[in-house]
Amino acid sequence: MNMIGGCDLRDIANRFGTPLYLYDAARIERNCHALRDAFNAHYPATDIFYAVKANGNPHLLRLIASCGTGADCAAPLEVTLAERAGIPREKIMYTGNYESRDDLAAAARCGAVNLDDITAIGKLPAGFDGILSFRINPGEGGGSHPGIVTGGPDAKFGIPIESAPAAYRLAVDRGFTRFGIHLMAGSNNRDPLFFARMAAILCHSAADIFRPLGILPEYFDIGGGFGIPYAEDETPLDLDAMARAVAATLALCASQHGVTPPRLRIEPGRFIVGDAGYLLARVTAVKKGLRRFVGLDAGMNTLIRPALYGSHHRVTVVGKETPAGMATLCGRICENTDIFAADIPFPAVTEGDIVLFHDAGAYCASMAFPYNGRLRPAEVLCDNGKPFRIARAENEAEFMERYEA
Ligand SMILES: Cc1ncc(COP(=O)(O)O)c(C=O)c1O
Repeated sequence: MNMIGGCDLRDIANRFGTPLYLYDAARIERNCHALRDAFNAHYPATDIFYAVKANGNPHLLRLIASCGTGADCAAPLEVTLAERAGIPREKIMYTGNYESRDDLAAAARCGAVNLDDITAIGKLPAGFDGILSFRINPGEGGGSHPGIVTGGPDAKFGIPIESAPAAYRLAVDRGFTRFGIHLMAGSNNRDPLFFARMAAILCHSAADIFRPLGILPEYFDIGGGFGIPYAEDETPLDLDAMARAVAATLALCASQHGVTPPRLRIEPGRFIVGDAGYLLARVTAVKKGLRRFVGLDAGMNTLIRPALYGSHHRVTVVGKETPAGMATLCGRICENTDIFAADIPFPAVTEGDIVLFHDAGAYCASMAFPYNGRLRPAEVLCDNGKPFRIARAENEAEFMERYEA
C-alpha cells in the first residue's frame, strides 16, 4: 500500500516526518454513514454519539460531527473538545467512571449523564436539568481481548442490575424527572448478535426498573463496542445483521412489556476511526541477534495496544511486499514489551524504509505518551489527495515548559 486518502506515503513521510499518524477523511465519513444507514434501515430512532476517547483530535471531531453524530465524553476536557467542535448540548453525553465532583460539574454541561454509581448522584451539581441515567453492568461482557471487556463480574464499571431500582428511586426522590439507561459491556465485538443480547438485557431490566416508579426512560443506550477486523482472516461486523437484530429485539421486548420502543443511543468509537487511521514509521536499525529485530522510530509510546492488550495490527512496508524471512518488530523504548509483532514474515528492510501500521485510528494517538523522552508525533489528515497537518509534533521546548514552576 503506497497511497492513503489519495496521498503518497513517501511524500507524506518526507514532508511531515515520522513517526506520524495519518487519517483518511473519506474513510471516516464512510464509516459514519455506514453505521447511520444500517440503523436508519432497521431502527431509525437511533442517535449516534461518537466516543471521543477513541480519538479526540479536534479536527477529526469536527469532521465526525459534520456527519450528524453527537459526542460521548469521559472527562471534562473531552466535553470541552465536543463543545469546541460545535456540537450542541443535547448531543453531548457524559459517561465517566469513579467521577469526582469536578468531573460531574463538567458532565452537567452535557445534555445527558450516564452515572457509574449511585453515590455519584449526590455529587452532580444542583440544577442539572439534563437526562440522568445509570450505567448498569449487564452481568456479562464481550470484547476481542480480556482487557477491553467492560461488563461481567470482573468489570469495574457500572452498577449491578439489582442495584438499579434503588438508584433510580433515589433519583426520583431527589427530583430528577428525565431518565435514560445505559450499558457498555465491551469493545471490538464483531458478532452482530452480541449487540442484540445487550439490547435485550437492557430492555427487560428497564421494564423491571421503571414500571414500579411509573416513569419512562427517554433512551436505551447500548454503548459502543462495534468491532473492526485487525487481522487478514477476520471478517467485518455485519452492520445490517447487527442493526436488524437489535431492532427486532427491542420491538419484541417493548411489545412484551406493552410499551412503545424507546429511542436508542449508541457510542461507537473504534468503528468510526479505527480503520481510517495509520501509523507511519521508519526503520531505524535491523539487528541480526537471536532473532531478526527490525527497530522503528515508533514505539509502544505511539502504539500501546500490542503491549497493553496483546493486540494485533497489520503492518506493511511501503514499496516492499515480498517477505524475506521472519522478523520481530520493535520500537526504541527501553521496555522489553515494546514489541509490535513477534516473528512475523517480513520483507528485507533497511534503515529509512517506511513501515505502515494499519487500523491505528482508534486508541493509538489518544493513548500516546512521552515515555523515554519520545514526544508525541504529528497527525495528518488526507482529504481527497490533500494532506492537512491536524496536530504538530510535540517539541522539546513545550515539554520542558511544564517544569518551569
Ligand atoms: C462508555 C463507553 N462508550 C463507548 C466506548 C467506545 O467503545 P468502542 O470504541 O469499542 O466503540 C467506550 C470505550 O471504552 C466506553 O467506555
